[in-house]
Amino acid sequence: MTDDPLSLLAGDAASTGEQAVEGSLRPRSLDEYIGQRDVKASLAVLLAAAKGRGEPADHVLLYGPPGLGKTTLATIIARELDVNVRYTSGPAIERAGDLAAILTSLDERDVLFIDEIHRLNRAVEEILYPAMEDFALDVMIGKGPSARSLRLSLKPFTVVGATTRAGRISSPLRDRFGMSYRLDFYGEDELTSIVRRSAGILNVPIDPEAARAIAMRGRGTPRIVNRLLRRVRDHAEVHGDGSIHPGAVAEAMRILDIDDLGLDATDRKLLAAIVQKFGSGPVGVAALAAVLAEEQETVEDVYEPYLLRLGFLDRTPQGRVATEAARSHLASLGYDVPAPRRAEPDMTALWDNPAQPS
Ligand code: ADE
Repeated sequence: MTDDPLSLLAGDAASTGEQAVEGSLRPRSLDEYIGQRDVKASLAVLLAAAKGRGEPADHVLLYGPPGLGKTTLATIIARELDVNVRYTSGPAIERAGDLAAILTSLDERDVLFIDEIHRLNRAVEEILYPAMEDFALDVMIGKGPSARSLRLSLKPFTVVGATTRAGRISSPLRDRFGMSYRLDFYGEDELTSIVRRSAGILNVPIDPEAARAIAMRGRGTPRIVNRLLRRVRDHAEVHGDGSIHPGAVAEAMRILDIDDLGLDATDRKLLAAIVQKFGSGPVGVAALAAVLAEEQETVEDVYEPYLLRLGFLDRTPQGRVATEAARSHLASLGYDVPAPRRAEPDMTALWDNPAQPS
């Protein structure tokens, strides 16, 4: 993840104050939650059925790019079930004993949210399998020939796992989830509604066109539109009367260096590198990560998904390729856009010179 605390793509809220505001903007029930219609409809049935039976809900896996609401949904799942939620993450659980401590502290039907679940280590994952399947904790007592395994029972609970890519999860772990949901980028109308709802909570007057202008630059991501909204609000308070109108949005975006499609300096640097240094591709993701001084995983999980969705990037077996749409976008912003290295293969020769009969 980028080290720049001001980056609008940064995974976590930049400061405790921002975290508190971000928390206050999150929907608290499925009814308040905007977007992801199919996921919501399916979850509503799953939760109502579990609640009706007085049982824990099936384990749920949520996957998709960062900022689309995986943590928010886990919180909503717990609220809808009237139970507590415990938050942890794959990298935070270092040893099997850490997970055992968490599991034994859960109450009946509680939700355990494990973010970045693909980063659990092997020993920890092995504790999780019987815990998810049989609500059992297998502990080893003693060492050497006299060692024995003892099975303790746990209170029934629900794991909500989150990951940026389902393909990263081992198949035995994936098999233990009763439901898997893919969260997709939000549409412009949904993001506009989210901006208007958030502005209402923050008590900032916002013009409908300004709400749409923020939504259009939100990269399909609620976390990003809410951050943009807060930055525009700062701008409107410092340079205007505190109300948000399209002029305030345009000015704030100019200062943040975010273009009309919501791309920031790093996105453009990534595209410009492919176009200018690598003849528009194909180029391997490791080379791109080196140019951006980012982890390869950050490039793949944070920057690429939206560029792929915009149709600016293609993933080919040979590497990443900047499309004509990306090249025109850069050209419209004044970037030098040299001819692509990939000449279309000249197929005419094949048709003009049919193979000689042998
Ligand atoms: N704030 C952040 N995500 C949201 C969502 N999906 N619906 C409503 N408000 C939100």
